[in-house]
Amino acid sequence: MGTLLHLQAPPLQLHLRTLRCGLLGEANRTPSFPPWGFPRHGRSRRPVRVFVASATETTEEETLKKGIAEFYDESSAVWEGVWGEHMHHGFYDTDAAVTIDDHRAAQIRMIEEALRFAGVSDAPLKKPKEVLDVGCGIGGSSRYIAKKYGAYCRGITLSPVQAQRAQALAAAEGLADKGKVNLALITHKPYGHEQVNFQVADALDQPFSDGQFDLVWSMESGEHMPDKMKFVSEMARVAAPGAAIIIVTWCHRDLLDSEEGLLPEETNLLNKICNAYYLPPWCSAAEYVKIAKRLSLEEIRTADWSDNVAPFWPAVIQSAFTWQGLTSLLRSGWKSIKGALVMPLMIEGYNKKLIKFAIITCRKPA
Ligand SMILES: C[S@@+](CC[C@H](N)C(=O)[O-])C[C@H]1O[C@@H](n2cnc3c(N)ncnc32)[C@H](O)[C@@H]1O
Repeated sequence: MGTLLHLQAPPLQLHLRTLRCGLLGEANRTPSFPPWGFPRHGRSRRPVRVFVASATETTEEETLKKGIAEFYDESSAVWEGVWGEHMHHGFYDTDAAVTIDDHRAAQIRMIEEALRFAGVSDAPLKKPKEVLDVGCGIGGSSRYIAKKYGAYCRGITLSPVQAQRAQALAAAEGLADKGKVNLALITHKPYGHEQVNFQVADALDQPFSDGQFDLVWSMESGEHMPDKMKFVSEMARVAAPGAAIIIVTWCHRDLLDSEEGLLPEETNLLNKICNAYYLPPWCSAAEYVKIAKRLSLEEIRTADWSDNVAPFWPAVIQSAFTWQGLTSLLRSGWKSIKGALVMPLMIEGYNKKLIKFAIITCRKPA
């Protein structure tokens, strides 16, 4: 049990409402505080609410993890069938007309834009050699980055189906051995010679040693993390000195100075999305920046790419109404159907400037 600080004013009215989204996670759940400094008592202009983590909370976290794993176990094949190996938004020019063929290219562009924004170098002596993909889906980013830089890449997901599929796709490309995926939540370092390897593991309790990776990447997994401080601090822990950390994630809008939290109708909208996509309470990009500062991370940068992703959800909805989309959705099960039904709410959230598509990058001190 421990104490946690919770800076986001309105906890969502979900069964998950007490999950951690604040700047400091439970002290005793953080295995080792980063040696480069972890100020535990920072100042905040907003009132800080204190929750005591309970056994119920732990159970709720476990329930959330189980829901996430089952959601992706069930829906990943549907997504892959229609959209391919990348389970994330595309990046588009804000004024461009987009055809259906442009979307896969836009997803690759998203990866390239994120690497560029973070200043990841292509130079032979500076390019990343060991990369971690946190919340890897079926491994699209891992394989792309491994091939781009000739890097070793490890991917973690909660979904056994995703880990197996990611490994099979890597094996088909000659990047991995078939069937070497770890399906249990494990706490040891499992990989050997493979260039790319995937395993089932929890981002909040990673099975990697300190300082192992020179690029730590999270593409659209942060929104699933119930403890944002733990999420970022685990990424920072496994990052090598000087390594880049890249988080591309769904956030809610930054709060105004005069605001304690989101408006009730905003919270209501996010609740519906949370229920369908197995998300804990959201936070803002500004909160991620505060977390990175608290962890003494350097070169912290953030951008709002909401306008650059605007064509994405309309295209996803359009694809769900094709014969292939509809039949595979119906075959896959209720969790996927529920996910499809709330897609219009994502568009509504963006249109209301409530949902922000954010990138946050930083570097571990050298
Ligand atoms: C929307 S998918 C993104 C997949 C991938 N990054 C991509 O862009 O194709 C979200 C991923 O986050 C993973 N995830 C969510 N919570 C996690 C956790 N606590 N630990 C590890 N992975 C997690 C899910 O299993 C899923 O693979």
